Amino acid sequence: MKSFHIVPPSVRRLLAGARHAVANATSVSALVVILFFAAATFSVFSFGAFRSPAASFDGAAACEDARGEWVRDPGAAPYYTNATCAFIQDYQNCMKHGRPSMEFLRWRWRPGGGEGCEPLGRFDAARFFRLLRGKSMLFVGDSLASSHVTSLMCVLSQVEAPARSRDADGFEHWRFPAHGFAVSYFWTPFQVQWRLTRGPPEAVGPDRQGEVFAGPNDLHLDEPDERWTSAAKGHDYVVLSASHWFARPAVYYRHGRVVGCHDCAASNATALKPWHAQRAAFRTVLRALTQLDGFNGTAILRTVAPTHYENGGWFDGGDCTSTRPLDSDDTAEMVETESQFYRAQLEEFTAAAAAAPMRSNGVRLRLMDVTRMMLLRPDGHPDRYGHGAGEHDGFDIDCLHWCLPGPIDVWNDLLLQILTS
Ligand SMILES: *[C@@H]1O[C@H](CO)[C@@H](O)[C@H](O)[C@H]1NC(C)=O
Ligand SMILES: *[C@@H]1O[C@H](CO)[C@@H](O)[C@H](O)[C@H]1NC(C)=O
Ligand SMILES: *[C@@H]1O[C@H](CO)[C@@H](O)[C@H](O)[C@H]1NC(C)=O
Repeated sequence: MKSFHIVPPSVRRLLAGARHAVANATSVSALVVILFFAAATFSVFSFGAFRSPAASFDGAAACEDARGEWVRDPGAAPYYTNATCAFIQDYQNCMKHGRPSMEFLRWRWRPGGGEGCEPLGRFDAARFFRLLRGKSMLFVGDSLASSHVTSLMCVLSQVEAPARSRDADGFEHWRFPAHGFAVSYFWTPFQVQWRLTRGPPEAVGPDRQGEVFAGPNDLHLDEPDERWTSAAKGHDYVVLSASHWFARPAVYYRHGRVVGCHDCAASNATALKPWHAQRAAFRTVLRALTQLDGFNGTAILRTVAPTHYENGGWFDGGDCTSTRPLDSDDTAEMVETESQFYRAQLEEFTAAAAAAPMRSNGVRLRLMDVTRMMLLRPDGHPDRYGHGAGEHDGFDIDCLHWCLPGPIDVWNDLLLQILTS
């Protein structure tokens, strides 16, 4: 039995932690990385409570990506390294920062369902490009969505170097002209309309970033963030994800009026658990996407990737020093906040998919259920190797993001599987 507890932060400690964490940071983009707050809760929740609706078929047996185990492959080589991919952000560049062992790269995911289920095949960039010629894919979410884009760019760039650009509206674009494929990324940590109460990071100096991020977010649970939903029309695929920011202090709105809040002792509003907000947000954006005029592509929902802080949280010395995945027969448990996020995601996805006949625009919905496979990878985070010795560019100890190369490279294998099935 192995479980991960995260000490619940009071708002005060959150503030202190945020101030401390940003004290030595050098840029706003680094700060954005810093402030992905770990979910906070006393209790843990058993993973086995929900079943994912996603399954793939391998011969006669139903092989489920969402269940399964990591099997050791001593000959496994990463798709890329810190030397062959120029896009790896420092905070996840564990190779560059001297992580002592590369053992965490020698595992492959074997879907559950019986002996007939083989480990996922290696990512085939040529095949990926063939399938996606003339298409484009939009990723929306927080820094973990950005990490997924980076991972995909690292594997694809081994075949064609992308042209990268950023537009004035905050979209990042990657184009592969030889293969007629394009990827865009937009940072929207809640998917719905939101506002950092104290204004955007660029509104205050680098020494006051802690105030920007520690103030509660205003979340408009019934309004999709139109900056990306309007852009979705131009894409064939939209990959959605959002989890960890919901664990932070927030004031919730519907129809423009306060309906509740989370971690906001000073407010009169009704206290609501963050997973109510997560559920409402996914309901809002899935509904928006299935009714969006002009979007007739595929929306892919990626589920929560658990954190693995032990002996504390991100802000008070917690770490993640495991050197191997958990066995599938370990009763791995998620902290309650994350398991409730997962439940909300599965249920909202299932409900939206069941409403298929109501869809007016022909949108397809697919689930990319990574939760259990990532729960089993406490060894895949940067821990202390998200920055050089003595540097503080990012979390001091990061058990939320993932090393690149690293276990999230398997998300591309899942993406390819979704595209071909
Ligand atoms: C890559 O990592 C190695 C250590 O594994 C380091 O010696 C090298 O300088 C790094 N290269 C780059 C380009 O970061
Ligand atoms: C809380 O409610 C009381 C009574 O309705 C009101 O006087 C007070 O200003 C409210 N406080 C806040 C912080 O909204
Ligand atoms: C999606 O919409 C575009 C533009 O209206 C159209 O050309 C295309 O055939 C549609 N695709 C599907 C699968 O309906």
